[in-house]
Amino acid sequence: MKELKILAVIAALVGITYYGIEPYAHSVMHPEVSAADFTFKDAKNVDTSLAGNVENGKVLVEANCIACHAIEKAGHPALMPNADAAASYGVVPPDLSHAGRIYDKNYLANFIFDPVSAMHLSHKYPVGGTKAFPMPSYNWMTPQEIMDVVSYLQSVAPKVTEDKEGHKATFEAACGRCHSMAYAKFDATTPKDSIKAYMGATPPDLSQYIKSRGEHYLHSFINDPQVLLKNTSMPRVGLNEKAQEEVIAYMEEIGDSKKAERESLGLWVMLYTFVFAILAYLWKRKIWSEVH
Ligand code: HEC
Ligand code: HEC
Repeated sequence: MKELKILAVIAALVGITYYGIEPYAHSVMHPEVSAADFTFKDAKNVDTSLAGNVENGKVLVEANCIACHAIEKAGHPALMPNADAAASYGVVPPDLSHAGRIYDKNYLANFIFDPVSAMHLSHKYPVGGTKAFPMPSYNWMTPQEIMDVVSYLQSVAPKVTEDKEGHKATFEAACGRCHSMAYAKFDATTPKDSIKAYMGATPPDLSQYIKSRGEHYLHSFINDPQVLLKNTSMPRVGLNEKAQEEVIAYMEEIGDSKKAERESLGLWVMLYTFVFAILAYLWKRKIWSEVH
């Protein structure tokens, strides 16, 4: 009888923790956030249904973008070393080889039209403020011209493989100007001191973020950092769903490379405990049968 009472108390305590305290703590620590939105429909200045002209896009990109951006895959190397680029712009402008592949078309067109609003950085660069974003707005281009630029960038973007190498290319193109990945021996292209001065915060090394934040958080965070970290200086990067999945896959390949092994080992451990429990029970029965 006494044992039953103890069992009832334990069951009640476990129940309160499991159904009451844990869900409450979870809701405070990880508030519900809207799912990642890959339509980028809040950006609506450019009509992205227009068909772009690749030839004209090439002319526009060569006249307007390659002074700052390398496009290695189209034969345009960086014009200055990273340290000098960082000194000039605050951050090294990313190589645009992969831009047409990794950024959503809506996002990219509206980013070219007005970078600050597409990146959700109006709190850092308010209209009429003293600080200017290093990349100019191309709001003088017609929507047709912007779509020409987008089409050109899409046409030069190389196909990448669906493996660690391909995922790495996406990560470095999308995040590599700010974030390092020490476990993959990758240093951010912008030197540490410059990026801290530019952003006001040091972008963390992302080697272990798949573990400390988890996939679910990363999916929402990368899509729109402001939703989870109000006023953070990290910009919205504008990746399409596929590229974002590649980035997260890479973070997992580098930061949690033993995940598959761990999960399969877990099954064996559970099986072992199960068999061991049966043996222990049989042994107990045998011993007690001698006592009674
Ligand atoms: C004066 C230099 C400069 C010029 C000219 C320039 N950019 Fe940029 N661009 C930058 C810098 C600096 C960044 C990185 C800003 C940051 O991350 O805060 C950037 C970022 C980008 C990104 C990354 C966006 C993202 O969401 O991560 C794209 C795409 C881009 N530029 C395209 C272009 C295109 C297309 C042109 C020409 C039409 C162009 N840029 C012209 C300096 C420049
Ligand atoms: C222009 C620079 C820049 C780019 C590009 C950038 N980040 Fe960040 N990121 C930052 C900064 C700065 C912080 C620190 C923010 C803070 O402390 O408010 C940060 C923070 C983070 C964090 C930590 C968030 C947290 O909860 O503490 C993660 C995860 C992250 N970035 C992932 C990424 C990924 C993945 C990409 C590429 C898809 C990326 N970032 C692109 C600048 C950048």
